[in-house]
Amino acid sequence: MQAYQGFSRDELYERRNELARKYEDYKKQGLKLDMSRGKPCPEQLDLSNGLFSNIGSLFTEDGVDCRNYGMMDGINECKALFAELFNVSTDELIIGGNSSLNLMYDLIARAFNHGLNGFEKPWSKLDKIKFLCPAPGYDRHFAITELFGVEMITVPMKEDGPDMDMIESLVSEDETIKGMWSVPMYSNPTGITYSDDVVRRLAYMKTKAPDFIIMWDNAYCLHHLYDEHDKLADIISLCREAGNPDRVYMFGSTSKVTFAGAGVAFMASSKANIDHVKKLISIQTIGADKINMLLHVRFLKDAKNVAEHMKKHAEIVRPKFEAVIEILERNLSGKGIAAWSKPKGGYFISLDVYEGCAKKTVQLAKEAGVVFTPAGATFPYGKDPKDSNIRIAPTYPPIPELRTAIEVLCVCVELAALDRILGQ
Ligand SMILES: Cc1ncc(COP(=O)(O)O)c(C=O)c1O
Repeated sequence: MQAYQGFSRDELYERRNELARKYEDYKKQGLKLDMSRGKPCPEQLDLSNGLFSNIGSLFTEDGVDCRNYGMMDGINECKALFAELFNVSTDELIIGGNSSLNLMYDLIARAFNHGLNGFEKPWSKLDKIKFLCPAPGYDRHFAITELFGVEMITVPMKEDGPDMDMIESLVSEDETIKGMWSVPMYSNPTGITYSDDVVRRLAYMKTKAPDFIIMWDNAYCLHHLYDEHDKLADIISLCREAGNPDRVYMFGSTSKVTFAGAGVAFMASSKANIDHVKKLISIQTIGADKINMLLHVRFLKDAKNVAEHMKKHAEIVRPKFEAVIEILERNLSGKGIAAWSKPKGGYFISLDVYEGCAKKTVQLAKEAGVVFTPAGATFPYGKDPKDSNIRIAPTYPPIPELRTAIEVLCVCVELAALDRILGQ
């Protein structure tokens, strides 16, 4: 759709002046609002205060003393819970510490330093390593591969996941492409869930690199906003069925189920991959925090109880997502200068503003006291080729603050677009 279709140049100037006045009014309010990171709000955190109210015995059901060393890959009842939640078997799992991002970083570091199961050589012994990065995506993924000197290739996101034609063609020809990042369910930030066809193609595709891996960051698979929710195909089974059992490593945590940064994280993969990683982990640690695992199992109990718990999260955050979308629609729809996601779960709304205007929009908002994630952060090397994407994280602020922040954002989106269109 063409921007401001039907508007004369004079009308555009008039609109610009009206918005500039509104913007100055916001500036005078001395706002201090931070919309930059996807954090749970205090009311969400309060849902898990019961973690500490039922501690009881510090022994597991099978008699392991959680006060002592041991059980390097996690206690059995925690494995059973995660196996049920993420549809894997207990010997395909490692329960880690508090952070799935940490497990991802460690896996990449191991791939470089020692090699993973099925590798001919550690990646550090090779001249070049490339990774596919569906984008917009999660900035901290890209930061890991950038730190290790991996060349990142941006893959556009479509309605049903990353551009599979592009991925299949690249991986079939280039042996230096060793892996890809993915947030397959309620993706950060687009909210997209990969379709069954995309997941199947990822599992079955022919890769020139025999040690190609998929980093399957399932951070948001429990985070539905509505009863009727997206479903994600089971990539571990599909990889097995396709004869590529060692291709995928899945990650997740309870950071946004219980306490952010104080939950329990896991990694799942084929048994052969997990056995290989366990040997390496056994040099690194005697084990993660078993007491936290025990508290989590006793509090979360089973998949049915977790689903009930997640509904309470949804009741708190759904009105925030709906408020953002209502404000975006009221201010920006029909103008041809912006498009936004309407996710059914996860933590983010992805806003695409008029091309070439994301940086300016975020800067204008900052000068009016509203901080958003820096424009470009959702792309490898922080470079959005269209300078268009802005990530909105609605969960943390109280609704009145959130509403003000998005109203300010809408003014900035239009101002930046009008400045560009009018060539100022
Ligand atoms: C896609 C994704 N993965 C991982 C994380 C971090 O998870 P953890 O707290 O388990 O390290 C986040 C946090 O925002 C995220 O958005």
